[in-house]
Amino acid sequence: MTSDISGAIADDWSNPLRDPQDKRLPRIAGPGGMVIFGVTGDLARKKLLPAIYDLANRGLLPASFALVGYGRREWTKEYFENYVREAVESGARTPIRENVWQRLAEGIHFVQGTFNDDEAFDRLADKLAELDASRGTAGNWAYYLSIPPDNFPDVCHQLDRAGLAQAGPDNWRRVVIEKPFGHDLESAQELNQIVNSVFPEKSVFRIDHYLGKETVQNILAMRFANQLFDPLWNSHYVDHVQITMAEDIGLGGRAGYYDGIGAARDVIQNHLLQLLALVAMEEPVAFTPEELQTEKIKVLRATEPVRPLSKTTARGQYSAGWQGSHYVKGLREEDGFDPESITETYAACTLQINSRRWAGVPFYLRSGKRLGRRVTEIALVFKSAPHLPFADTMTTALGQNAMVIRVQPDEGVLMRFGSKVPGSTMEVRDVNMDFSYSESFTEQSPEAYERLILDALLDEASLFPTNEEVELSWKILDPVIEYWGKRGRPDEYPAGTWGPESADRMLEREGRTWRRP
Ligand code: BG6
Repeated sequence: MTSDISGAIADDWSNPLRDPQDKRLPRIAGPGGMVIFGVTGDLARKKLLPAIYDLANRGLLPASFALVGYGRREWTKEYFENYVREAVESGARTPIRENVWQRLAEGIHFVQGTFNDDEAFDRLADKLAELDASRGTAGNWAYYLSIPPDNFPDVCHQLDRAGLAQAGPDNWRRVVIEKPFGHDLESAQELNQIVNSVFPEKSVFRIDHYLGKETVQNILAMRFANQLFDPLWNSHYVDHVQITMAEDIGLGGRAGYYDGIGAARDVIQNHLLQLLALVAMEEPVAFTPEELQTEKIKVLRATEPVRPLSKTTARGQYSAGWQGSHYVKGLREEDGFDPESITETYAACTLQINSRRWAGVPFYLRSGKRLGRRVTEIALVFKSAPHLPFADTMTTALGQNAMVIRVQPDEGVLMRFGSKVPGSTMEVRDVNMDFSYSESFTEQSPEAYERLILDALLDEASLFPTNEEVELSWKILDPVIEYWGKRGRPDEYPAGTWGPESADRMLEREGRTWRRP
């Protein structure tokens, strides 16, 4: 069998005579289906539906797979099928192949209803039972809640009431939930209680799509499959760590979701703290979900904000400015945004990890919208050599050594160190050594949602944060958000820059500077 997806993979997705050497074999989902709540939303259209098609196209879904959309709109099966087709055509990463599409389309259905409608959920139950009988989904269903958390209680209650949440002895029921998992510790606990009162924790899959990214998983490969890095990975050698998630986009169109949430809740509480956990955790006893979660939980438990928060945090709102060659609006002019809002579009904070490995090493986390460019990276900045046997004039262009994990774009790892400048004098200057995914591998990385949807169908929980991780993350961030809540309006920064001046001062106070990726 070829690994070229333009070959015959999808044609033989039910063929029991697959090549036993095919590494994908244990990764093909068994019989089952997925119901998506919120299927008319942006996430479903841009990410979930294309990811499901790509999985089918790669031969990783069973021939019997069924996809059921649930929503308020009065759509027929045909209408929904067309909607999925359009989403797939504009978002899929693999080519459209009619035989794959046809097989998938046969399993596509739509159930119309609101989130608290008994009768509609009874109809959903009938539809799933019918598919179990006619298509062979075997009673295995994943419910994807791509809806605001305010609706979780209704949907969980209805799934329970309609008998859809309980698995039988020979089948499974799972729920996949999207962030935000609450807006602080207390609300997260309430939400977890509601979800867990219907679905046991083992069948809850919380999506943090950053964990589905190849470069994020590579943090574990780099740290635990090599001997080179670990001896340096501690407070003896690391001066500080910078975790940056910068975006060039603004909030156009997303004001409804974002106003009142802000950068800290939107991405630091989840994506950035998960990155911190992977960078800082100890080696897991085994590469299993339980052991990985144990280590992440340990490190999150040991993490807290450095105080005083007036000096160790910064936040901002973008104002109008130039983003490349475009002049863009400021936050307060964005449609749907309350001009009096104190929601931050830039957030930075300093965290410390109270462990032997990381004592005294600040972890600086920052994220913002409308910054200079889109980049997510983790930089370990090393201490300077304890002694330099060179005259000062020879090392003026020498900075601190650094290792930068580029999560996106231009995925790779960069090492920065000093090197002699060619010539007749001894002059040392920083140089970069670069590993690039696209140059080293020919394989294309799957989209994060592809990986995570497949893992949920396979009951592989390694890349999903547990409720304890979610709650610990709120515990770390709550004091910062609470402090900001009392401080009125955030500082401003012009679009296209690297954030408010207060963020620069935050590091300057400690004799450091942010990287300009
Ligand atoms: C989401 C946030 O979780 O991540 C968005 O809600 C953000 O505000 C997005 O734009 C960024 O994701 P990515 O994969 O493009 O970095």
